[in-house]
Amino acid sequence: MLFRYKKSFEKIAMGLMSFMPKERELKKLQQTMHIYEENPDWQLFLWKKEDDFVGLLGLKVEEESYTIHHISVNPSHRGEGIGHEMIGKIQDMMQDREMRATEETDAFLKKCPVKKGDL
Ligand SMILES: CC(C)(COP(=O)(O)OP(=O)(O)OC[C@H]1O[C@@H](n2cnc3c(N)ncnc32)[C@H](O)[C@@H]1OP(=O)(O)O)[C@@H](O)C(=O)NCCC(=O)NCCS
Repeated sequence: MLFRYKKSFEKIAMGLMSFMPKERELKKLQQTMHIYEENPDWQLFLWKKEDDFVGLLGLKVEEESYTIHHISVNPSHRGEGIGHEMIGKIQDMMQDREMRATEETDAFLKKCPVKKGDL
């Protein structure tokens, strides 16, 4: 299930975010978290499995589209379909908006079924 990020999830969110290749450096990671905390169109979600947060999804929402900037899953839970589930859920939440990828997220998103538009 997807949960909207809040400050009390900061540590776990930073841990999951650091699996993104460009977020390994602490300073960059802190800047990225700051963007999500300060800008309402940048939305961060965590995926909870049983009692643990094991996935992260970050996007920028625009009027007719949204761009997936960050997606990561805890290495112990990869290959279980969580990445696909997060993308499926966010597409349902974003309804008519078109999903877009960045250079960083494109490779995985190309593997996910797209409900509206094409990547
Ligand atoms: C990308 C990621 C979120 C996938 O999460 P996941 O829960 O393991 O994904 P799923 O179980 O839903 O899907 C697994 C499929 O995605 C593929 N996949 C995993 N990472 C991928 C990547 N970077 N690019 C393309 N495909 C990828 C797997 O090979 C597998 O394919 P298969 O079904 O043909 O065997 C996870 O591997 C991760 O956290 N990677 C590190 C962060 C990252 O690089 N994010 C950007 C990815 S473009």
